[in-house]
Amino acid sequence: MALALEEAARGLGRTAPNPPVGCVLVRGGAVVGRGFHPAAGEPHAEVFALREAGEQARGAAAYVTLEPCSHLGRTPPCVAALIAAGVSRVVVAALDPNPRVAGRGVGRLRAAGTEVVVGVREAEAVRQQAGFRALITRGRPWVVYKYAVTLDGKVAARGEGNGAVTAAGARARVMRWRNELDAVAVGVGTVLADDPRLTTRGVAGGRDPRPVIFDRRARTPLSARALRPGTVVVTAPDTDTAPLEDAGATIVRAATLPGALRGLGQLHLSSLLLEGGPTLASAFFAEGLVDEVRALIAPKLLGAGLAPLNGPPRGMADAAALRAVQLESLGPDVLVTGLLNDIPRLGAAGDL
Ligand SMILES: NC(=O)c1ccc[n+]([C@@H]2O[C@H](COP(=O)([O-])OP(=O)(O)OC[C@H]3O[C@@H](n4cnc5c(N)ncnc54)[C@H](OP(=O)(O)O)[C@@H]3O)[C@@H](O)[C@H]2O)c1
Ligand SMILES: [Zn+2]
Repeated sequence: MALALEEAARGLGRTAPNPPVGCVLVRGGAVVGRGFHPAAGEPHAEVFALREAGEQARGAAAYVTLEPCSHLGRTPPCVAALIAAGVSRVVVAALDPNPRVAGRGVGRLRAAGTEVVVGVREAEAVRQQAGFRALITRGRPWVVYKYAVTLDGKVAARGEGNGAVTAAGARARVMRWRNELDAVAVGVGTVLADDPRLTTRGVAGGRDPRPVIFDRRARTPLSARALRPGTVVVTAPDTDTAPLEDAGATIVRAATLPGALRGLGQLHLSSLLLEGGPTLASAFFAEGLVDEVRALIAPKLLGAGLAPLNGPPRGMADAAALRAVQLESLGPDVLVTGLLNDIPRLGAAGDL
């Protein structure tokens, strides 16, 4: 399953509205096939693994990161392909979160006499599928709030990205996240101050996330480096956006942040890397729309500067505590990750 999760990761940022899925076929202790879902409209992971295995799939065990599909979509159901190939055992990391689908794939496999195990490395799989799960159950992207601070909790006031705060390892990690998430968002304040490109740089085989600029009054300069064909600009409902549209921007009109996120969901953006600045991030945080936090902390003291979040004071007892916290050293810097909202598992449609 670890190999299957690695396979699935190759599809991150490329499969929406479909999930990233990986599949590994094992027979007699050897891997005989592997595959991942590369993009919506392309074959599913199981199909690639079965193709590679050929006749060796007969009697093999399949390790799949998400319950195989049992319904006819753009491609024939994988459950039928697994049964036809003679796979004798299917190990599933996590059930499909779609309440109309959940359990059916497993049920059909069992009805055909295939042994099925569910729940192997489930937490990692669910985490990897957070975007897909948020999109299908909530109709909005999974929001990952990323920021870099000094040890005294200050973000640099200026400077592209966080180059000034953290070292090369942290910067490379941010580029990997941009490669893996569907979209990257900033407020117009950051566009005006830093003119970021919001591209993926230095990642082999990398691709750029879709830039999203939160800009209620359409103040984004037409010369902004993040403004390219397909860039999403989120504005207030009645803002004149003709010049931005002429520049190729996709406009999402919304009166509220939850409405804006639903608009991004309709564009099939399943995950959003929220890169700031403080005003926009604080608005997301205040509305409970930050699902996951990735904080990069540099062992430096600045003494003055912007805090990553601001808002009305609250007592420590009311602080939002992260769950599933993980720590990692990145050269001199420390990465702290954790969840503020639960990743949807089964059901619970439309909670926004
Ligand atoms: N080191 C870091 O991690 C980092 C990262 C990013 C930025 N920064 C720094 O942060 C500074 C910019 O800060 P900032 O707070 O002005 O930038 P910001 O948060 O990127 O942009 C703020 C603007 O976003 C717009 N906005 C759109 N929808 C909004 C909503 N629902 N709620 C609130 N605002 C919304 C508002 O303008 P409208 O009202 O016109 O829509 C607001 O003025 C820069 O100096 C930059 O260098 C640092
Ligand atoms: Zn399938």
